[in-house]
Amino acid sequence: ETGFITLDSGFMNTASCTSDITYLDGKKGILNYRGYPIEELAANCSFTEVAYLILHGELPTFEALEAFKHDMRRFALLHEDMIHFFDHFPPNASPMSILSTTVNSLHNYYPEMDEDDDPYGGYTVTAARLLSKTRTIAAFSYKKSIGHPLVYPSPRLNYCENFLNMMFDRPNLPYKIQPEIVSALNKLLILHADHEQNCSTSTVRLVGSSGANLYASISAGVSALWGPLHGGANQAVIEMLENIYADDKDFEKYIEKAKDKNDTFRLTGFGHRVYKTFDPRAKIIKQACDDIFEKLELHDPLLDIAKELEERVSSDDYFLERNLYPNVDFYSGIIYRAMGIPTDMFPVMFALGRLPGWIAQWTEMKEDRDRIGRPRQIYTGEIKREFVPMKDR
Ligand code: SDX
Repeated sequence: ETGFITLDSGFMNTASCTSDITYLDGKKGILNYRGYPIEELAANCSFTEVAYLILHGELPTFEALEAFKHDMRRFALLHEDMIHFFDHFPPNASPMSILSTTVNSLHNYYPEMDEDDDPYGGYTVTAARLLSKTRTIAAFSYKKSIGHPLVYPSPRLNYCENFLNMMFDRPNLPYKIQPEIVSALNKLLILHADHEQNCSTSTVRLVGSSGANLYASISAGVSALWGPLHGGANQAVIEMLENIYADDKDFEKYIEKAKDKNDTFRLTGFGHRVYKTFDPRAKIIKQACDDIFEKLELHDPLLDIAKELEERVSSDDYFLERNLYPNVDFYSGIIYRAMGIPTDMFPVMFALGRLPGWIAQWTEMKEDRDRIGRPRQIYTGEIKREFVPMKDR
């Protein structure tokens, strides 16, 4: 059933599935969710609205969006038993390990299928529950990591406002919600909401194809996203920019290291498996960076470092010949820093954004009743060898 697609390089690659959720053109730098260009969605929608689109295939009517937002509000709390999970993680537990563990455990408290769910039709209620509770888990994991009291979700706040409030509100220092920060967070989450068959989404589909429940499949996707070549990249970008800054802005040293085949160092935040031009998301995030810094009169030397690095790379034949341009991770971390979000939470932010895509892709796999995933291999080992008894080894 899997088709073959011929890549630009002429290399035949097997398509792992068919999907009508996200279309991307790596050569032209095009990315659409359910046929809508991300540029228009990022400029005009909330993350909740785009999550509804990705999950249901249509932009929501006002009533449908209000109902979805109502579900998100009513599901924001975690079962009180689950609050004790956070007492037992070690103080330095990575927020991604807390997220994957706790999301997996949701299965024990909430039915995989809600009575309002249509078995193969979008998992509306379960999707709203998972989106809302994962946001709460993410904020709780941050509070746990800094030893602060958990801040519960508020029914008066929308998705992004609630997350920021749960992250930064304190009993002795109330958090002031800023529209510019909320707008930038909406944009960032929208731009991460789905991306075809990337590493973590393929993981979610593969695990789900075995019949594993939605929560276990999403937990596997969180683990796949954690790697520095995937969702951990924006954390690595900040570390790279900080190193360049600390190294007297010795850009050439890092650019030459990235070219050195004997060195494993790569300019993280550059290059992409599919995009061989500017990642369309990076363009929007770079502009959002400039907007929020201007509006809030912020300054971060790492933004200047990032822009100069991009400029140098964009005129270097080594990178141009290999179609290496900034990807979604190159500027996103700088905005998260401006929001006060620490680097170990960056992959968690990526997971919050990607969650609608993971759920929609998992649901699509179920609807298509895909057979269990079973990638094949090209065997390169010994063909047949005679057994050697221990005494002769
Ligand atoms: C994400 O798949 C998705 O859609 C992912 C994602 C999503 O939304 O889910 O878009 C999110 O994961 C974005 C990528 C984040 N990762 C990074 O920024 C890590 C840094 N990037 C590289 O590791 C790399 O570019 C990858 C992993 C992103 C892509 O790897 P490829 O396509 O396998 O690249 P390649 O190995 O084929 O590279 C081709 C050439 C090689 O040189 P040659 O052997 O041809 O001489 O380009 C070089 C590579 O060495 N190269 C780089 C480089 N990336 C590739 N050289 C320096 N710096 C880099 N970043």
